[in-house]
Amino acid sequence: MSTQLTEKKTACVVGGTGYVASLLIKLLLEKGYSVNTTVRDPDNQKKISHLISLQELGELKIFGADLTDEGSFDVPIAGSDIVFHVATPVNFVSEDPENDMIKPAIQGVVNVLKACAKSKTVKRVVLTSSAAAVTINGQNGTGLVMDEKNWTDVEFLSSAKPPTWGYPASKTLAEKHAWKFAEENNIDLITIIPSLMAGPSLTPDIPSSTGLAICLITGNEFLTNALKGMQMLSGSISIAHVEDVCRAHIFLAEKESASGRYICCAENTSVPELAKFLHQRYPQYKVPTDFGDFPSKAKLVISSEKLISEGFSFKFGIEEIYDQTLEYFKSKGVLKLKNSGFHFLKFLSGNKIFLNIHLLQHGYCISDLKVVKQFSLK
Ligand SMILES: NC(=O)c1ccc[n+]([C@@H]2O[C@H](COP(=O)([O-])OP(=O)(O)OC[C@H]3O[C@@H](n4cnc5c(N)ncnc54)[C@H](OP(=O)(O)O)[C@@H]3O)[C@@H](O)[C@H]2O)c1
Repeated sequence: MSTQLTEKKTACVVGGTGYVASLLIKLLLEKGYSVNTTVRDPDNQKKISHLISLQELGELKIFGADLTDEGSFDVPIAGSDIVFHVATPVNFVSEDPENDMIKPAIQGVVNVLKACAKSKTVKRVVLTSSAAAVTINGQNGTGLVMDEKNWTDVEFLSSAKPPTWGYPASKTLAEKHAWKFAEENNIDLITIIPSLMAGPSLTPDIPSSTGLAICLITGNEFLTNALKGMQMLSGSISIAHVEDVCRAHIFLAEKESASGRYICCAENTSVPELAKFLHQRYPQYKVPTDFGDFPSKAKLVISSEKLISEGFSFKFGIEEIYDQTLEYFKSKGVLKLKNSGFHFLKFLSGNKIFLNIHLLQHGYCISDLKVVKQFSLK
């Protein structure tokens, strides 16, 4: 899978500034691909600084394009062999998820796929969906196994309207629209369905999903409630290393026999089980393990069996995911052990607070947090 290309190919990555997309671009350049990527604001030097650095690795061109701007993908996609549609609009505190997330996400897949159809060169499109498009429904139970046949119940979401409902609804509806458009226009589409991701990032700011993944270590109550909410609404705490998810994108783009949806998740667990693991592995952080009557077992597991039987192997298990995420936070200077054994975490990224206390007080799922809030822990 890590073999170099024998002939030059061009890949277009939609939404290059993000956590997943920027690592995907790095891996593609290392494999010898020419890469075109789209960003919303190519003049924002801070937001694209990590992409400029990646230009040392190979041919990387940066274009301006917006999901809601029909036609803006035509130029970056023209001449590409493969398109990775990674971008998605996220605004967890939106008062109007329909217009802020759902419509632009759907418009985005249609605009990107239209440009692919126009190009006549694109052989395959890989769309980044989410476990949030698979597991959310009104079903109760334990020991459930969810695979690519399962879809999040959008009717349940839009009638119950739990806080953050717009995000899973947008991911589900965008993926469904992508499948419809691809079938009608004879496009070879693959969707990849990652769980929560952690692991080091190339982005200038620390990705919010990594902060959520290590909140039991930082001791942040705010995010711990979000993690509990994730277990309650999504059914589990399911996690993968971002590099494995990016490797799976390339694997599926290149694997001729691949078709349909693919879940990509290394580990399924629950908040209490994760806490126990972290407590044992990193005793210095004194991770609490008593969660009272909070469910100790997850309702479900999401299965990556289809991806594995296609020939993919995960490089990183739960140990490496956490070892590397902790090292990453330490290298950023935001995770420190104090003499007292207390720790301190500070996010200083961006200028918007996408997440409000209200969401978390209700204990709902926030799977791709955009936490951009300055805080310090005891
Ligand atoms: N991180 C996770 O744990 C996780 C888990 C499951 C699935 N996913 C999926 O993986 C993908 C990447 O996630 P990520 O964590 O890398 O997210 P991220 O870092 O927040 O990146 C999101 C990207 O989407 C772009 N974007 C947002 N609205 C746009 C618009 N209207 N037009 C063009 N671009 C727009 C952003 O561009 P700007 O830089 O211009 O804002 C950014 O590059 C998403 O599809 C997400 O749903 C992520």
